[in-house]
Amino acid sequence: MEMNIKFPVIDLSKLNGEERDQTMALIDDACQNWGFFELVNHGLPYDLMDNIERMTKEHYKKHMEQKFKEMLRSKGLDTLETEVEDVDWESTFYLRHLPQSNLYDIPDMSNEYRLAMKDFGKRLEILAEELLDLLCENLGLEKGYLKKVFHGTTGPTFATKLSNYPPCPKPEMIKGLRAHTDAGGLILLFQDDKVSGLQLLKDGDWVDVPPLKHSIVINLGDQLEVITNGKYKSVVHRVMTQKEGNRMSIASFYNPGSDAEISPATSLVGKDSKYPSFVFDDYMKLYAGLKFQPKEPRFEAMKNAEAAADLNPVAAVETF
Ligand code: OGA
Ligand code: NI
Repeated sequence: MEMNIKFPVIDLSKLNGEERDQTMALIDDACQNWGFFELVNHGLPYDLMDNIERMTKEHYKKHMEQKFKEMLRSKGLDTLETEVEDVDWESTFYLRHLPQSNLYDIPDMSNEYRLAMKDFGKRLEILAEELLDLLCENLGLEKGYLKKVFHGTTGPTFATKLSNYPPCPKPEMIKGLRAHTDAGGLILLFQDDKVSGLQLLKDGDWVDVPPLKHSIVINLGDQLEVITNGKYKSVVHRVMTQKEGNRMSIASFYNPGSDAEISPATSLVGKDSKYPSFVFDDYMKLYAGLKFQPKEPRFEAMKNAEAAADLNPVAAVETF
């Protein structure tokens, strides 16, 4: 309970006033010690957020709920007798904004819903880039450094996962989403303001990310841990299922472009870095099979790949 009170809630509008320094310090502390923080007064219009919430809930009822129930039946989850550890109790669909939008390829969205998501995506992209610059400032990196790293040759990847976590008759038997860290860069989450469920692991305890109306929850993915050489943390989180209520969550992932070269920033590396350097897409290939495993072996595997690549002669010698 006490933990929740300390959960970092940051009033972004204070960056424009005399509390700027304190606010920057709160962001830095959250990035180092929580890997998460919750933004209020972030500048996103509340009526846009309300419309998106309404349309996401309507869309679930109209186009997703039936499919979710069929999935439960086909996987034998309608009767939960024992703990299930290889499936998540969630109903999701994805939209990509960057490098190319696929908004018009997604079935069953009303035009109003598409336009609202387009507007929301653009505003979140701008917010993500502003936040990256705040991180740069706190890290002593030049303005634009992180954005440039994420750019690669084709610009960042930016996508939104729209989820509903429907009520579950036996919450102790299955998670809404199993514990994991996020692979990418910065995650911006618009979560239900009534139904809770998201928890992060802090000092060995699970801490609730408190629902707060019109807030945007931010968390850092594995790439920011690598680039900051471990100064900032990608933190394990999960979603619990609930007996009552349907939890909406809209998570937008601002990630590096597929060919972006990721490595610890030189100015943040002392004698030696424990983090690898790699091309982002190679990390994603590894992550795809290991999402619900700890991040450390992923970093190790990328280090080993890097060492193997270093051993390879540039011009291959013919061996046949
Ligand atoms: C994720 C995630 C949290 C949520 O999709 O990676 O952690 O509340 N989602 O949906
Ligand atoms: Ni996540």
